[in-house]
This record gives sequence, structure tokens and C-alpha cells, in this order.
Amino acid sequence: MATRVLVVDDDLNIQRVLVFALKQEGYEVTVASDGAAGVEMALDARPDLILMDVAMPKLDGYAATQQIRAAEKGVGRVPIIMLTSEADVEQRVRGLRAGADDDIVKPFHPLELMARIKALLAQGGAPSPAKPGSDAPTLGKLCAFYPAKGGVGTTTIAINTAIALAREMQRRTALIDANLQFGDLRVFLDLGLDTPSIVSAISEPDLDLDLFRTMTVSHRSGIELLLAPPTPAAADIVVERQRQSPTVISNMLGLARRLYDYTLVDMSQGIDDFNLQLFDEADVIFVVMTADLSCLKNVPLVLETMVSLGYEQGKVQLVLNRSNAYTGINVSNAESALGRKIDYQIINEYRGAISALNSGEPFMSSRADAPLSKSVLSFARSLDKAFATDAVHARA
Ligand SMILES: Nc1ncnc2c1ncn2[C@@H]1O[C@H](COP(=O)(O)OP(=O)(O)OP(=O)(O)O)[C@@H](O)[C@H]1O
Ligand SMILES: [Mg+2]
Repeated sequence: MATRVLVVDDDLNIQRVLVFALKQEGYEVTVASDGAAGVEMALDARPDLILMDVAMPKLDGYAATQQIRAAEKGVGRVPIIMLTSEADVEQRVRGLRAGADDDIVKPFHPLELMARIKALLAQGGAPSPAKPGSDAPTLGKLCAFYPAKGGVGTTTIAINTAIALAREMQRRTALIDANLQFGDLRVFLDLGLDTPSIVSAISEPDLDLDLFRTMTVSHRSGIELLLAPPTPAAADIVVERQRQSPTVISNMLGLARRLYDYTLVDMSQGIDDFNLQLFDEADVIFVVMTADLSCLKNVPLVLETMVSLGYEQGKVQLVLNRSNAYTGINVSNAESALGRKIDYQIINEYRGAISALNSGEPFMSSRADAPLSKSVLSFARSLDKAFATDAVHARA
């Protein structure tokens, strides 16, 4: 499912230009030619974003925006950009008062409009299932995703599992990019460098729930993100701080547990102090692998490390990614080489994975019905089932 944009404008030329530009960017576009039709379509079709002209027959853009805001209470707020005809402050303020999130003055360059749309969507306009910070107690589970080697799909699985937990299971979900030097969440999720990161969280001496909330970024897919440092050099700040005082990490993760049902951690390969602490803190470690020789060599080493750390069996689980890709090693070969069972399998779908990556829209958001999405969804369901059942037992 592509991101859906509703254009509300009575000017046919503007409609044409906008529809063309938006479609080129991969958006799905619907058009309403007056304010009243705009309100109706906004409420019926629930688009992901609305472009709203000001001067229109039947109902002007201000009134239409107000009606949409009044009607959508409790069901999530659609981001609205006003298309104003003058850079007049009064007009702009009126638009914002009516409930618009941003405005752009006609004539505008399509590229500028696209940038505004992306920025607004990235702020998390999409309804997130249960807002973090709501007072209900969370499940508070921490799941680490650790690669048996680079490039096996750890980030892909972590992102899409997080979105599945948030969207399909209505869990408050955060994703932490703990690949400190070369974190990929920003590129995979189409975010700029000008966002807060783990560096702010780790450098704050009095980090509390409110401060922590200001350091996470809401993504339109419904998940909250704590991003990696913006540059590899800044990663040193985190590592150094953790070396001086490991409690800063525990404190930060403790806050995440209080805010979210699930905090997923996308890790990088390597057994260092930082990663060892993450292993310790995690409730479960998903070791992501593919069926190839290098993973079959690495996984036993990882498992041995986990045993030597004293972790119980169930804490470490194996996730075989691209399970049906032809590598000459099938699942049962891999299991007998490892001498243990593979806990989860995610199918291979090169096109789906790569096009999601290039568009900055994870497949779990844009193509929830695709086989790859379904495969990750079923993994997320099992994960949630295990923990939700745990929580019920703990309460009983
Ligand atoms: N199930 C899958 N089917 C097909 N392609 C996949 C699948 N999972 C991941 N990929 C592709 O594999 C490549 C690597 O994925 P990703 O960046 O998620 O891996 P990673 O383990 O996080 O890598 P890194 O070591 O760089 O952090 C990407 O091009 C991604 O689209
Ligand atoms: Mg990665």
C-alpha cells in the first residue's frame, strides 16, 4: 500500500501538476475539487496526508480543515498542508489555527512541496497505535537483533518487525539503532541527519522519561526511533560514555522499557563491551543469519559466547533470513551443521526488499500483503505471543 495523498483544489491545472508530481514520487493520489468533497473524502478514505487549497467553492480550505479536525478526534490526525496564494502572515496563521500542520505559497516548486510532504510524514502524522507515554503499564520487553555477519538483513528484519508489532499488534514499539558507526535506520526510513540521536540520550546526566521522549523520533509507520550517531566519529562519544559508566545505558534502556511494550535493538556484529552490555540487558537475542558457510561458522561461536555468559537456552534464538534462497545449504542441512533447531525463518524476496529500501518506505508499511511482509509478520506474531503469554503468567 503506497502512501496516499488527497489533493483538495478546484484549479484543474494545479490538480494536474500535483497529481503528476506526486505519482512520480510513488504516492497514490486522489483529488477533490471543492472543500465539501475534500472533507467527505478525507473522512471516508483516511489518506495519509492532505494538500488543501485555501480559496475554493462550497467550503474554503480553512473551514474544510476545521471540519476534518473536528470529525477525526480520537481516530488519529491526518497531516494537512495548506496551499496558500499569498505569503501573507495573517492567511498563514489562519491556516495553522484551522488545524493545518504546514503551508506552502503558490506558485511553489514541486521539489519543495515534496520535501515538505516528506518532512511532515516523517514527523509521524500517521496514527500511532498506542501513544508512548500513555499511562498504561507496558510489556517492557527488550529484543536485540544481532547479525551472525554483516549484510544478512538484520536491519531489514528489525525495522519491519517493529512496524508489525506497532501496526498489527497495536504495541507501543521503539527501535534503537545500536549500529553506532554505520547505523542504517536514517537511510532505510528516509530521515535526515538533523534528528536527535543516541548521543544526546547518552550524554544527558539527568535523563528521565520526559527528556528521553524528546530524543526519540516518531516515524510515520507508527514506531519511535532512537537513531545512531550522525557520524562514525560521534560513535566514540557513546562508547566512551558507556565505558566510564555502564549505568547510563541501563538507565536509558530502563526508560525505554517503561515507555514501550517492545524496544527492538538493531546491533552491529562484534563482541565488544557495548554489545556485551546490550546482550545482558536484552530479554531475548535474535541472532540473524543466512544459510551460508560463513554464518554456519559464526553462529556456533556466537552461541558459545552466550553459553559462557550464562544465558539460559531460550534467551538466544536463531532467525534464518532469506530461508528459501538457493545457497546449496537448506534449512535441515543448516540445523544439522549447527546441532540445533532454527527458531524462525524469513523468506527471500529480493525485489520487495530492495524496492522498499530504495523508496525509504519499509515493506511492512507499503506492501503489507506481500509474501515477505507476511513472513515477517508471522515472526512478529510469534514473538508477541511468547512475551504476552509471559506477561500474563507473571501477573497471575
Ligand atoms: N528477506 C530478504 N529477502 C531479500 N532481500 C533481503 C531480505 N532481507 C534483507 N534483504 C536485503 O539484504 C540487504 C542487506 O540488508 P540489511 O541492510 O537489512 O542487512 P544488515 O544485516 O542490517 O546489514 P549491515 O551489516 O550493513 O548492517 C538489503 O539490500 C536488503 O534489502
Ligand atoms: Mg544493518
